Amino acid sequence: MRPVIITANWKMNTTPADAGPLAADIAKATDVAGITRIICPPYTNISAVSDAVEGTGVLVGAQNVHAEPKGAYTGEVSADMLKGLVSWCIIGHSERRRDQFESDELVGQKTIRLVEAGISPMMCCGEQLEEREAGSAVATVQAQVKASLETIMAAGNGLPADLVIAYEPVWAIGTGKTATGADAAEMADAIRATIADVGGADYAESVPVLYGGSVTADSFAEFINEPSIDGALIGGAGLKPDQMAGIAATAAEAAAARANS
Ligand code: PGA
Repeated sequence: MRPVIITANWKMNTTPADAGPLAADIAKATDVAGITRIICPPYTNISAVSDAVEGTGVLVGAQNVHAEPKGAYTGEVSADMLKGLVSWCIIGHSERRRDQFESDELVGQKTIRLVEAGISPMMCCGEQLEEREAGSAVATVQAQVKASLETIMAAGNGLPADLVIAYEPVWAIGTGKTATGADAAEMADAIRATIADVGGADYAESVPVLYGGSVTADSFAEFINEPSIDGALIGGAGLKPDQMAGIAATAAEAAAARANS
């Protein structure tokens, strides 16, 4: 059975001074049974967050990693640098695809680095509004996932056992608009079909697919009530302990229902 996962992506928010107290508040607010909780602070606040959540069960992730193992890449952070500091890392977030022009192949390379370092990859994908309106959302997202997975396969070590995919329609990120649960579930099924093409049906069934894009305590139920969706990647609401409390409570209910079915 796939885990139910809620991940807070703090983006470029918090400081070393306020990240620890916020993480401690979120850990307390989300202390429910049966789900996986991850907080992804900025690099500079990883150690403050790790200290604050020690013993709570909350896992810590990074928001990005460089695609090369080491070298002359001023200002960048490698997978080896993150080893021991985080257990998860987001890759291919649409804000990085937009601002740093990250390609699907680069996202695949980053995944390879994470696997080498023993860090679990959370790979983002999602269509633009024009692609949704043109009816090409599914094809766009399938092409993203396929290209990244094929890059990983070409390295010769197969696909990561701990891969998670976060489907985040770009037009839903930070806008207050969400996909419908039905559209997100259709996309999760399409993503798994693509994963199955590359890595086989059993593997595809094992990969959690999260929804992201303006998830709140109010909207989360619509997504987690879809059997093909396994949790959320949460931006704005991930900085708010009361919102995270509501999301965690709904996640715990879903996890319990799945365990009993
Ligand atoms: P949002 O961000 O919840 O603020 O829309 C989600 C994300 O970008 O991961």
